[in-house]
Amino acid sequence: MGVSASAPAKLILCGEHAVVYGRPAIALPLDGVRAVATVEPAPAGMELQILAPDLGAAWFVSGLPDHPLSELTMATLRYLDLGLPQLTITLRAQIPVASGMGSGAAIATALVRALASYAGRTLTPAEQANLVYGSERRFHGTPSGIDSTVVAYERAIWFQRRDPTPLIEPITIGQPLRLLVGDTGIRSATHLPVGAVRKKWQADPARYEAIFDAIGALALQVRAALAAGAASELGMLLNENQRLLVELGVSSPELERLIAAANGAGALGAKLSGAGWGGVMLALVTAEQAPDVAAALRAAGAVRLLETMTPA
Ligand code: MEV
Repeated sequence: MGVSASAPAKLILCGEHAVVYGRPAIALPLDGVRAVATVEPAPAGMELQILAPDLGAAWFVSGLPDHPLSELTMATLRYLDLGLPQLTITLRAQIPVASGMGSGAAIATALVRALASYAGRTLTPAEQANLVYGSERRFHGTPSGIDSTVVAYERAIWFQRRDPTPLIEPITIGQPLRLLVGDTGIRSATHLPVGAVRKKWQADPARYEAIFDAIGALALQVRAALAAGAASELGMLLNENQRLLVELGVSSPELERLIAAANGAGALGAKLSGAGWGGVMLALVTAEQAPDVAAALRAAGAVRLLETMTPA
């Protein structure tokens, strides 16, 4: 008998990049957009394999042992004391890869959850996040851990990288807020802008530490605005966060076109979300503003549009 498990996409509301350098950030799960993993016994005579039809990929784990998902599968099987069972693992995701919505973390978390469920186990969010973070670290250099954490906890979180364990706190949202997410359609792997920021930081630490500090201070204000349900103030803070992301050099003309379109159509504020250089932006809107802002985003070239409410 096969078992399935899923995990959500995510949005970073405030603090991407600075979070890699120990500043706090705020992330939300995107409930309606999920990755699904199914684990079932392999057909007779077949060994452990992974099918990822959305990526047009299928492979035997023994044939591609260094693939990030092969390594994560093996690490999870070891963690669960499952040995090396003959399984077929099928991975599906509604989340475009390299879009800033955490498709990698969602697929990886769905995989860990499905293997645990196959073993009759339930792993805590912290256990899931640790397994996925270990895999991200091997393949992406310096992830902060915010993606694997928000996806595993499936709630709005305040996240700060710390040794030995990050600070993870639930965020209070006084009044659910409406977000429009516009996809530039440009795919940009997370580690590229993250690596570019690192190089700039190494070349001029004082300048970049000051930008990270400013972003960290914004995260505090965003948290307070969320708790108070202060939508207009939150919008201004998102705009300020975007200005600092431009200073970091992680925006792009396509992102800026969508952000300008959203603000021009009356959004309360807008910023890129995730690593940047492509992927998605988000705009904070009221119910009345949403149709105009959505139309403006489409006209400005958004290839995909999503409307979501922050969790209460
Ligand atoms: C990516 O979703 C967020 C970044 O801050 C990278 C990270 O935190 O690992 C850009």
